[in-house]
Amino acid sequence: MIFQKRILYKALASPILSRLLKLLALPLLPISLYAAFIEPYRLRVRRIRVKALCEELRGLKLAHISDLHLNALDRRYRRAAALLRSLSPDLICITGDSINSADGLGPLHEFLPMLRAPLGVFASCGNHDSPLLGEKEVFEAHGHHFLVDEARAVEFHGVKFWVLGLHFLTTASGALEMLARLPEDAFRIVLAHNPDIYDGLSAAVSVRSGCPYTASAPCLDLDPRPVSSGSSAPGESPAPRPHCLTSRSDCSLDSPVSTLVLSGHTHGGQICLPFYGAVLTASRTGKRFESGLFPAGSFLMNVTTGVGTFFFDARFLCRPEVCLIELI
Ligand SMILES: [Fe+2]
Repeated sequence: MIFQKRILYKALASPILSRLLKLLALPLLPISLYAAFIEPYRLRVRRIRVKALCEELRGLKLAHISDLHLNALDRRYRRAAALLRSLSPDLICITGDSINSADGLGPLHEFLPMLRAPLGVFASCGNHDSPLLGEKEVFEAHGHHFLVDEARAVEFHGVKFWVLGLHFLTTASGALEMLARLPEDAFRIVLAHNPDIYDGLSAAVSVRSGCPYTASAPCLDLDPRPVSSGSSAPGESPAPRPHCLTSRSDCSLDSPVSTLVLSGHTHGGQICLPFYGAVLTASRTGKRFESGLFPAGSFLMNVTTGVGTFFFDARFLCRPEVCLIELI
């Protein structure tokens, strides 16, 4: 063993090998510079067109952003706000991790006034958010909604649809209980930071007829659900990877969508390899919901790569994005 180590040290000390390693590392330098200083700021717009559940909802435009991880209001956030303004969405949905800790509340205070949408700005709670440290109050101070296991009715062309914001740890069964308390034939948007909720929700949400709901209740406050991980039990075989319609390009879907789940959390992996995608994601299900559109009948989940970064401030082959979902 000692003999093998000596050979290894000798080989590494060799000037030839040292030069070879430097030569191999040389092309990585521009890639590292690009990943650290250019790609995190190259925001793109991903456009998704889906069939509306009913005629009245045609033309509804909603913007989906996630994982801001605000530490300081740098140019990526100003660019995101400018992009959102240029897209003129009817509502803006933010699916969690708006901040990293209570230190982000100040930058959040500066960022939120830049967001304006006629039907409102709705945010849910990610694993880095601090609902108990005043984040909800910050959103509300700017007239926005921070929904923790809570649903709001929104009206468009005289038809009500619902936005349900989940706590990061709320399970699929908890979400289903909340959905069951909403009008069955209404269009529902679920803000779920963690896409791992897909299995429990997509299997249970059935195709519905699509009649407009016009009841007058403006708001339902729903009980927070008990927490659990939502991952497979030990010894259970992992669930198969669901069909991802598209992860990086614009897309049109012909089938009507009754339940639209918006998620983030994975950051698309932040660092991707060509023809492979994310090297790692923060999700317990790994690459299963890396990013993109995951349809299942009238159920559709969109997982965004997010706006900000976490752990290391770099992105490679995984641009930050603003998603624009239009009902046609
Ligand atoms: Fe995140």
